[in-house]
Amino acid sequence: MSEYILEMQNIRKTFLGGKVIANDDITLKVKKGEKHAIVGENGAGKSTLMKMLNGLYLPTSGKIFYQGKEVEIDSPGKAANLGIGMVYQHFMLIPTLTVAENMILGVEPKKGMSLDIEKARKDVREVSKRYGLEIDPDAYVSDLSIGMQQRVEILKILFKGANLLVFDEPTAVLTPQEIKELYRIMDNLIDEGKTIIFISHKLQEVLDISDNITVIRRGKDVATFPTTEATKEKIANAMVGRAVLFTTERPETEIGEKVVEAKNIFVKNNKNVFKVNGVSFYVREGEVLGIAGVEGSGQTELVEALTGLIPIYEGEIILKDKDITEFSPRKISQMGLAHIPEDRHKRAAVCEFSVMENFALGVERDKYSLRGLLNFKKLKADAKNFMEKYDVRPRDTSVEFGRLSGGNQQKIIVARELEKVNNTFIIAAQPTRGVDIGAIESIHKMILAEKAKGKAVLVVSSELSEILNLSDRIAVMCSGKITGVLDREEASEEKIGILMAGGKLD
Ligand SMILES: Nc1ncnc2c1ncn2[C@@H]1O[C@H](COP(=O)(O)OP(=O)(O)OP(=O)(O)O)[C@@H](O)[C@H]1O
Ligand SMILES: [Mg+2]
Repeated sequence: MSEYILEMQNIRKTFLGGKVIANDDITLKVKKGEKHAIVGENGAGKSTLMKMLNGLYLPTSGKIFYQGKEVEIDSPGKAANLGIGMVYQHFMLIPTLTVAENMILGVEPKKGMSLDIEKARKDVREVSKRYGLEIDPDAYVSDLSIGMQQRVEILKILFKGANLLVFDEPTAVLTPQEIKELYRIMDNLIDEGKTIIFISHKLQEVLDISDNITVIRRGKDVATFPTTEATKEKIANAMVGRAVLFTTERPETEIGEKVVEAKNIFVKNNKNVFKVNGVSFYVREGEVLGIAGVEGSGQTELVEALTGLIPIYEGEIILKDKDITEFSPRKISQMGLAHIPEDRHKRAAVCEFSVMENFALGVERDKYSLRGLLNFKKLKADAKNFMEKYDVRPRDTSVEFGRLSGGNQQKIIVARELEKVNNTFIIAAQPTRGVDIGAIESIHKMILAEKAKGKAVLVVSSELSEILNLSDRIAVMCSGKITGVLDREEASEEKIGILMAGGKLD
């Protein structure tokens, strides 16, 4: 038997009749019982390669050997039968059902037609115990945090007998605490004889948890090395083909008048529970205010309230001397708010539309109307420019948004929002989620350039390094309240951590 559980040989995958070469002669070998990291820039071809393991795509050419035998994986069902399971970034669970109910949906009922829910509940308990995946079989998926939903996905593929588990950017949507838990779960899986492949843009994480690393650049496998021989610089070099800087220079800007001020606001979520409990803050011209906090501390509701998406129960918001507390999202946007939302699929984009059409979303009436019609010429010219400036690949304005890689989708939203004509107040929620290190660098530069132009910027991020990199001041939230505001000079990960947990600094 070969030491490899999986060998992908000379894999080539093209789309649109050969116009797009997503994978160009990639060979990937994964040893049984290892954690193998796949890294590469946005659009390099990582997800495409993994989707061929799950039967979502067939290779255009090349061979796949699984446990020493050549296989043709032509459907997700086939992948499951072989013992290959994939945890996606966008979970495929049914929110109105319980964990146990979701579990039996995936597997064929064995006892005639009756779905054996009692057995499923027992199985959930057993399997979750074995892998340290504590989870309540009777909880409704809609009540679970993102981290918990991910556990259900893992459980689901374990149920179907997965031996090789593939994770596509599993930590991108998790909080630091949830990330630690996931690492522990991964270790348990390895102890139980499983093999793991994961994609990540976080180089520190790759160094911390992988055994071997494969780097993909523009559809080719450019390097594979053991993690013991890796450094951040070495990985980054292989990824982009040049040296990468890890810090962003900050422009010195003068801080001016208050642009936006929130006064003692209270906001409820859709379950009628208060998530923002008396929050006050202001952001001035040329200033970046960072909001840090464990996910679920009220940041999401705070941002939705500021943008007019959900009502404010009490308190007021002043934007440029106007009380906007009861304004509609459209009216607030017209007053100069730009918003990079945390959930780009829900709030910011239409996957079936072209890239160009997505550049027009929300700004079509202000920026691209010509005698009541859409000004196509200007839109197309802008779309071209923005794709160049923000390095969106491929540079094709007509491609369907949903076909772009995750990081390139994010770049489009960032470009559209930062390029709004009259923006004075910018809210950037998780602005670099899913983008590669080079793109993080450039998005940070773009945000700081807005600061230098005198814009007021609010950055919400679960990445402390991002908050520390960008902010002039940092407000920390815990349980719907601001537990402290730190100046850039005095801020540190430790201090923020204490405030995030609701503690006090002495
Ligand atoms: N179904 C498709 N039709 C056309 N082009 C596609 C399709 N799927 C992927 N592509 C293209 O193939 C290339 C590789 O995409 P892929 O999603 O594999 O990148 P990735 O390495 O996962 O990037 P990211 O880090 O941004 O997620 C991209 O140029 C993408 O636009
Ligand atoms: Mg991807």
